[in-house]
Amino acid sequence: MTYFPISIPFLASCLSFYICYTQAKLHHHNHHHDHDHHENRHMHPSPSNAPYTCYGDGIFDVREFGAIGDGVEDDTNAFKKAWDCVCLSQTHSPILWVPHGYSFIIQSTIFKGPCQSPLIFQVDGTLMPPDGPKSWPKNNNRHKWLVFYRINQMTIKGRGLIDGRGQQWWNLPCKPHKSPNGSTLPGPCDSPIAVRFVMCTNLKLQELKIKDSPYFNLRFDRCVRVRIESLSITAPASSPNTDGIHIENTNDVRIYNSFISNGDDCVSIGSGCFDVDIKNITCVHGHGISIGMIGASLMLVVAISTF
Ligand SMILES: *[C@@H]1O[C@H](CO)[C@@H](O)[C@H](O)[C@H]1NC(C)=O
Ligand SMILES: *[C@@H]1O[C@H](CO)[C@@H](O)[C@H](O)[C@H]1NC(C)=O
Repeated sequence: MTYFPISIPFLASCLSFYICYTQAKLHHHNHHHDHDHHENRHMHPSPSNAPYTCYGDGIFDVREFGAIGDGVEDDTNAFKKAWDCVCLSQTHSPILWVPHGYSFIIQSTIFKGPCQSPLIFQVDGTLMPPDGPKSWPKNNNRHKWLVFYRINQMTIKGRGLIDGRGQQWWNLPCKPHKSPNGSTLPGPCDSPIAVRFVMCTNLKLQELKIKDSPYFNLRFDRCVRVRIESLSITAPASSPNTDGIHIENTNDVRIYNSFISNGDDCVSIGSGCFDVDIKNITCVHGHGISIGMIGASLMLVVAISTF
């Protein structure tokens, strides 16, 4: 969603070909405020204690916690239990494992840190939310689906799929329809971001496939050191507001070798971001890379090379 005061569609020339390979380097100086460090000193929420046995020897298979993975049953509680165990584990690199060949349904959930050890969220199967606004539990927040909060050192990877099942959300009457007459109608409009990271540090996202988010696919707020490598993010060209990766108040970001085909910005950079390096991102259909900055004192240097 392009709501920044400045949006620089600097890939306009590539966009006419619909596919572009870009290398953008962003960098700005004169930014001395570090809100994250400041606040981290004052808040240390702990994950809840696990009142049940943490099955698994450093590998926490969600099925061991009762997840069914048939694409019908609600597996939310199993994931919450598995999260508590992986987060409390003192094993070196404990793994929360989502096995291949299963489709797990999870309601809107916040996975909270800080955790005891650097951990791996291994997604080899499919993760899905309840299907559309009518199935969304009444007491669930409609702005978010999966949220990772205050986690230090996590890798999310695997050959699995995060399927946002956005179709019915895109069709809400208030959305900018790509209908013949382009009209929008009043009505409920909130739609969940598929995966959010809030105040996380040392994150890696590798190899994952993310598709059909109801709204933005990935959003990072106040995170530090984010490495994104070999991701695939897809949503139909006509899907509204399905930005690929949105970052806000986040720094030290590397986005490499990834494929994004969607209906809005490929990568959008909001306010308070610096040291963002984007290399070899294939953007298809979407609006390219947009940069917005609030505050005239910020100096922004953008280097682009197209190959
Ligand atoms: C535009 O489409 C909407 C629904 O698709 C319809 O209700 C409305 O009457 C149409 N408006 C015009 C001017 O055709
Ligand atoms: C660029 O990224 C694609 C994946 O989108 C990958 O297949 C390709 O090898 C990468 N190219 C280079 C030069 O790293």
